[in-house]
Amino acid sequence: MDPEATLDAARERISACEDTEALKDLERELIGKKGLVAAMLAEIPKLAPEDRKAHGQKANALKQSIVVAIANRAAAFSSSQLETARRADDFDATLPAPLADRGSLHPITQVTRELEDLFLSMGYEILDGPEVELDHYNFEALNITKDHPARDSQDTFYCDEIGTLVLRTHTSPVQIRAMEDRTPPFRVIAPGRVFRQETTDASHDHTFYQMEGLVVGKDISVAHLIGAMKTLLRGIFGRDLDVRLRPGHFPFVEPGFELDARCPFCDSGCSVCKKTTWIELLPCGLVHPNVLRAGGVDPEEWSGFAFGLGLSRLVMLRHNIDDVRHLLDGDVRFLEQF
Ligand code: PHE
Repeated sequence: MDPEATLDAARERISACEDTEALKDLERELIGKKGLVAAMLAEIPKLAPEDRKAHGQKANALKQSIVVAIANRAAAFSSSQLETARRADDFDATLPAPLADRGSLHPITQVTRELEDLFLSMGYEILDGPEVELDHYNFEALNITKDHPARDSQDTFYCDEIGTLVLRTHTSPVQIRAMEDRTPPFRVIAPGRVFRQETTDASHDHTFYQMEGLVVGKDISVAHLIGAMKTLLRGIFGRDLDVRLRPGHFPFVEPGFELDARCPFCDSGCSVCKKTTWIELLPCGLVHPNVLRAGGVDPEEWSGFAFGLGLSRLVMLRHNIDDVRHLLDGDVRFLEQF
């Protein structure tokens, strides 16, 4: 048998096939277990030993060429079938295409946008501030002088050798920028990214998100602060939660507080509130007169409150996330859940 003539004949028959069924039969006949190529291989033992190798190689090459010819013919069928289907009367080009995978908003973006809506509805303005900040705004103007011990606890990334530029360690510098640019009364929030040079673990990351709030007006008191925070809680958790204030120290507020809310997830203690029924929500307080002055606001005439909501922590609470580092490591398996 001349392999080349056999291949030509096989190719001709393959292109003559009109449907998948016929092609399958021909495939069996040519390269199936009892097919043509199998028969060629079966002849080998009868050949002279020196001819066996060449014969085997030819048979295998023939098989390969047949396989390719069949695959090409099958591909032509499927595209012509598609073509026929397209031309058929019942082909509906308006049917929706299969859904492609889509991205989703990061949970921090979701919470930020929700809170922006909430505060906008209460007449707040939304501000932005630089992430690379002057020492003046990040510390000095916030009543944190050069030798103040609070600087140590802020784990600052310095951006230059003389220490005038820092990566902001909190969103509070936007308080000063806000006061410089407006005349009271006003209310602002400033969500954004902040940075601390810390060893990372499940509850600390070098980069995280906060939302600053600042209200300046006539006779602003702790009662206003508590009222605003209760509205905030209703917006976040969808219902009223009791709050309590514990003393907290921050040089830019006086008095300063840590505000706790009743645990929204239980009545009698759970893992989220560590069995205390209270969750630590945010630090806050009345703006220190030195800070008002640094922002160009007269503390004899105006007063204000400020708060610093930890957005990363809030997202962790809301979705029961056990490691803050998940938020920024970009793992698609994590992000797909939102
Ligand atoms: N800026 C403070 C921090 O990040 C939080 C804070 C903001 C405290 C506003 C009081 C008032 O630690």
